[in-house]
Amino acid sequence: MKEIKAEDIADVVKNGDCVAFGGFTPAGSPKIIAPAIAKKAEAEQAAGKAFQIRLLSGASTGDSIDGALTRAKAVLSKTPYQTNGDMRDAINRGEIHFWDMHVSHFAQQVQEGILGEIDLAVIEAADISESGEILLTAAVGLAPTFCRCAKRIAIELNEYHPRKIRGLHDIYEVDLAPNTQPIPLRTVRDRIGTEVIAVDPAKIVGVIKTHMPDQARPLADADEETNRIGENVAKFLADEVRSGRIPTQFLPIQSGVGNIANAVLEAMSANSSIPTYAMYSEVLQDSVIEAIKSGDISFASATALAVTENCLQEVYDNYDFFKTRLILRPEGISNHPEIALRLGLIGINTALEADICGNVNSTHVLGSKIMNGIGGSADFARNARISIFSCKSTAKDGKISAIVPLCSHVDHSEHSVKVLITEQGIADLRGKDPRQRAHAIIDNCAHPEYRDLLRQYMSIANGGHQPFSLANAFGMHEAFVENGDMRKTIWKV
Ligand code: COA
Repeated sequence: MKEIKAEDIADVVKNGDCVAFGGFTPAGSPKIIAPAIAKKAEAEQAAGKAFQIRLLSGASTGDSIDGALTRAKAVLSKTPYQTNGDMRDAINRGEIHFWDMHVSHFAQQVQEGILGEIDLAVIEAADISESGEILLTAAVGLAPTFCRCAKRIAIELNEYHPRKIRGLHDIYEVDLAPNTQPIPLRTVRDRIGTEVIAVDPAKIVGVIKTHMPDQARPLADADEETNRIGENVAKFLADEVRSGRIPTQFLPIQSGVGNIANAVLEAMSANSSIPTYAMYSEVLQDSVIEAIKSGDISFASATALAVTENCLQEVYDNYDFFKTRLILRPEGISNHPEIALRLGLIGINTALEADICGNVNSTHVLGSKIMNGIGGSADFARNARISIFSCKSTAKDGKISAIVPLCSHVDHSEHSVKVLITEQGIADLRGKDPRQRAHAIIDNCAHPEYRDLLRQYMSIANGGHQPFSLANAFGMHEAFVENGDMRKTIWKV
């Protein structure tokens, strides 16, 4: 394959082009072509010429894509997800057209052409053959679909990733209707596709060699509240096994991202009532690798190894052990709603805020400022056998209650959210009407400092099926905006 420089690729990218990057989170994200495009954007803009690209990536990326391109003002639009501080600020200033969408919908929209033609796909590979076989690195994301739909492909051949990982990936794509076939995946371990992406080598414009680890973001250390959330989730699951609602061989776990997710898995490992289990998730964090090593997790399937550098090195150093316990799939398969339902997943995701009816906001602070995006949370939440949402009961030193009368933005409706858990306790919302749910949430999940305030709201919100007061539904949010503290809420009666 022809070796080229990142600048050669940047040269052929034009203003308005759609560039799609492989990877998912920093895992498997290309690292040097995006900064070269950012540099070109700065040069073009300095010369008075417009230069922005339409940016697609599996989900969030490393800083060298979302961060570098945003700082160069080179991003016209972005989907489906982001976590980068610079990009988040630019979106919230209205400088980047961003729409967050269900990760499971992304492949279909790319294939339908809704997002326009892809001019260039940039893919990080551990190996590439003359015949066009691409061996991916620490993630699959949407790389197979990007490769198929893009006019041209540039490869970053990252020699940090050993070739022995051939077999880590299982590449399988779903055709659009009316040609859609049932996905033949019946267990977490099933292999249904190929080890590599096969492309027409004529589409590959060149290969750039690199040797760079993923730009993984270390998580904040778990604190007391995070650990208590983990313990509460583990306790709930252990009780479900005891009651017979979860079978004794357990069900596969889907777990979101962040330090709550790590704390949950650690607490599950520490709870002797929870048997060995499998993961069928979107991303795998360090805690999953630890639990595989200790034997608490028997097998893990996801689209990305979103782990720290040391952790990934450990996987590679002990690959004979991990190769029978890990598989990476395209995000359309890791997040497929039909599979979530078929496997009977236990979905565990995180809320920014939840309301007393059970609706969850995972994306927009005070209804307006985007945090990250919905990601895969709803792919699982709507279809999991048990859908759990967890969060701390307060934010910003107690000035914000995560439990409010009505969410300022809804990502997961009361119909999808089955269990809500904070460090305060567990609200099992199944089989309860809206008022019973409200009492369960206030009594078990709200911070004690906010319980009376929420009970007062309940007494104002008389009548009807749902507890609701039009004049007060956002009263706690208003108090925070006006007085910097939700505890200063005064209800309108
Ligand atoms: N109002 C305002 N800010 C709030 C808040 C609220 N109700 N609740 C939390 N926050 C703030 C925190 O104070 C923190 O701010 P900081 O960054 O300034 O410290 C920030 O939001 C993150 O909160 P944290 O408690 O650290 O949670 P997290 O890092 O676990 O992230 C989500 C929580 C919801 C933002 C994150 O899980 C997410 O993006 N989820 C959606 C996507 C998803 O679920 N993906 C996985 C599916 S497979």
